[in-house]
This record gives sequence, structure tokens and C-alpha cells, in this order.
Amino acid sequence: MQRRALGSTGLTVSCLGLGTVKFGRTRQVKYPNAFTLPGDDQVRDILDLALDLGIDLLDTAPAYGTSEERLGRLLGPRRDRFCIVTKAGEEFSDGQSRFDFSAGAIRASVERSLARLRTDRVECVLLHSDGRDEWILRQSEAVDALEDLKREGKVRAVGISAKSPQGLLCALDRCDVVMATLHPGYLDERDAIRAAHARGVGVLVKKALASGHLGSEGVEASLRLCLSEAGVSSVVIGSITPAHIRHNAEIARRVCAEGLS
Ligand SMILES: NC(=O)c1ccc[n+]([C@@H]2O[C@H](COP(=O)([O-])OP(=O)(O)OC[C@H]3O[C@@H](n4cnc5c(N)ncnc54)[C@H](OP(=O)(O)O)[C@@H]3O)[C@@H](O)[C@H]2O)c1
Repeated sequence: MQRRALGSTGLTVSCLGLGTVKFGRTRQVKYPNAFTLPGDDQVRDILDLALDLGIDLLDTAPAYGTSEERLGRLLGPRRDRFCIVTKAGEEFSDGQSRFDFSAGAIRASVERSLARLRTDRVECVLLHSDGRDEWILRQSEAVDALEDLKREGKVRAVGISAKSPQGLLCALDRCDVVMATLHPGYLDERDAIRAAHARGVGVLVKKALASGHLGSEGVEASLRLCLSEAGVSSVVIGSITPAHIRHNAEIARRVCAEGLS
């Protein structure tokens, strides 16, 4: 699996990452098919499979139900082999999202993520945008709070999972990493991804399969599109199906080996 620099953070990550929404949350998700949470043994097997395939980036969030807590409990000695990306600013409970970007809430969220993940530092924390990207970045206390946590050594890199091209561009002044959406049916953020690359800001791609709506047959076109962007550090595909993870890894490996134009 090809490894890429995560912007200027000094970290390198596998060009295919693993999204873990489905490790911990079944309600109010946008996937095409209903599913049940995988059992502990299944999650352990998925983590081992990811490592075997060279996938070493895990993306989680407090808003993904029990995802962080389960990763903390089930990673065990695997923890240091992964780059863990989590988020702050969004909570999901009782079927409802709540957002708080105050300094106190961001600090409390990151401290709780460290406890849930059973680790003393996390490689990356992204602000989990509710759509007010520019307000969060320019007016709220959130980025300053993350910078404080970075100085304390609890977080290595900080950024935002944005919801708009404008938000991504706004993030380039203050963030080490951004998470953007890119797939063949949504190219609106491609220019911002290129601008991030020019500024040395790492880019993670979310929803590369349009949250599963592109299906198995859409994987190659999407990975080709995303991985041909030199600025994309890792394409984070969510999955709890080992055959899909193998398929995605095989395609990522092949498109990189064939060379990307
Ligand atoms: N605001 C945010 O910060 C935000 C928002 C959305 C997502 N994310 C992150 O980005 C990750 C990816 O986004 P996403 O999970 O929404 O969508 P995605 O990666 O585009 O799609 C995931 C869906 O595709 C299916 N899938 C995966 N590989 C497949 C294959 N080879 N063939 C057929 N189906 C396949 C998965 O089902 P199986 O489980 O059956 O494989 C799952 O239902 C998330 O897990 C999360 O970590 C962040």
C-alpha cells in the first residue's frame, strides 16, 4: 500500500484509510443498506486485516456512537501501528446531533477521546463541522483550543472536516489537515484540495463512495480520481465487510502501481 505524507505534519499514512462510523453507530446514517454493529471479534479481525493490507489510518469521532470506545478497548497492542484521526465539536446522543465549538467543550471532548481510545496522544483531531465552516474557523475558540492541546503534546496535528469548498479554503491559514469530500459525482472541492496541497496542508477524503451509493463497481473510478490528486494523503473508506476492505486495498494498490496521471 502506497504511503503518503500527511501534509507538513511529519506523519505518513497509507493512501487508503479505514472509516469507523459503522463500528459504533447505526442511527441516522446515510448508507444504502441497514446493518448491525460488528461484534468485538469481527472488529478485531477487521483491524488485523487492515494492518495486513497496509492500511494504517483509522478515522473515528465522538459522534460515531461507540466507535472510539470500541477502538480503545479492541486495539490493544495494535494501537501504535495506527495513525488515529478523531474529531471534536459534535456529539450524537438520543438520535440527535449537538454541536459546541467553545474552548471548554473542545478540550473536554479531546480529553474524553484520549480516555476512550486508551491513549495519551492522538495523531490528528479535526473539528466536526456542522456546516458553519467559516464561523467555526474564524469566530469560535475551537482552533485555539486545539492548538493548546497540540502544544501540550496531546494532539499531533489539527484541522477540520469541512462541509464546503469555501470552508476548506478558509482552513488553509490555520490547519495542518483538512477532510474533504471527493468522488466522481462531486468535484466541487477539488480546487480546494489542490490549494491545500500547494500550502502543505494534508488532505483526507471522506465519502469517496458517496457513503456506499457508488457500490462495488464505483470503487475503481473513485480511487483513481482521488489518488490522482497529489495532495490527497489518504482516502478514508468506511467498511465493516472484510471482502470490501480487501477489494478496496487491491484497487488502491493497483491504481498506484499503474501510475496516476
Ligand atoms: N463530517 C465528517 O467528518 C464525516 C462525514 C462522513 C464521513 N466521514 C468519515 O469518512 C468515512 C467514509 O465516509 P462514509 O463511511 O460516509 O462513506 P464511504 O466510505 O463513501 O462509503 C462507506 C459505505 O460503502 C460501503 N463499501 C465500502 N467498500 C465497498 C465496496 N468495495 N463495495 C461496496 N460497498 C462498499 C460500506 O459498506 P460495508 O461496510 O458493507 O463495506 C459503507 O456502507 C467515514 O467512515 C468517516 O470515517 C466523516
